[in-house]
Amino acid sequence: MERPVPTDVEHEVTSIDMIVSKGDAEGNITYTNPIFMKISGYSQGELLDKPHSILRHPDMPKVIFKYLWDNIKEGKDVIAYVKNLCKDGGYYWVIAQVRVAKNPDGSFRNYVSTRRAITDNAKKTISDLYAKLLEIEKNEGVEASEKALEAFLQENGQSFATFNQFMTSLNK
Ligand SMILES: Cc1cc2nc3c(=O)[nH]c(=O)nc-3n(C[C@H](O)[C@H](O)[C@H](O)COP(=O)(O)O)c2cc1C
Repeated sequence: MERPVPTDVEHEVTSIDMIVSKGDAEGNITYTNPIFMKISGYSQGELLDKPHSILRHPDMPKVIFKYLWDNIKEGKDVIAYVKNLCKDGGYYWVIAQVRVAKNPDGSFRNYVSTRRAITDNAKKTISDLYAKLLEIEKNEGVEASEKALEAFLQENGQSFATFNQFMTSLNK
């Protein structure tokens, strides 16, 4: 499938929408709920068994996905803001919580992402931050971007240890 050409058309996520998907150990999509299809514009057939990166928007810094995978692979949940690309090139912002689901015997079952609408305040703060991180990645690479993300957290009296709570608190 060809990658959509990004446009500046924003798709609305309302306060009652909960966009859910599940993924296997590699991040391939194993389940999507109806609102996922409605907002992204893809059919279930176009999504199942495809990597979640089908939604990857070029405005997203790599470091956010690095942070996501470093943590979920260790069994730790992550709460992060994501700008996603729709099939028609439009986009939508969400705050996503990615959790690791386990089988009764404790073995890995799947990854589950629940995504909700974000506030204008969060959108402003996070799109400014992500634009800076993206610029740093282009010029200096992901390691420098990770340091800049850590510096942003520190400027706000936070650290990677308080990442999830801080991201949640920004959505006011
Ligand atoms: C359960 C789950 C949900 C994910 N949801 C998204 C998503 O909504 N948008 C996105 O760009 N990446 C999502 N990812 C991350 C992707 O797997 C991938 O790391 C990211 O799109 C960056 O792709 P790239 O490394 O190929 O550039 C998700 C991963 C998992 C495990």
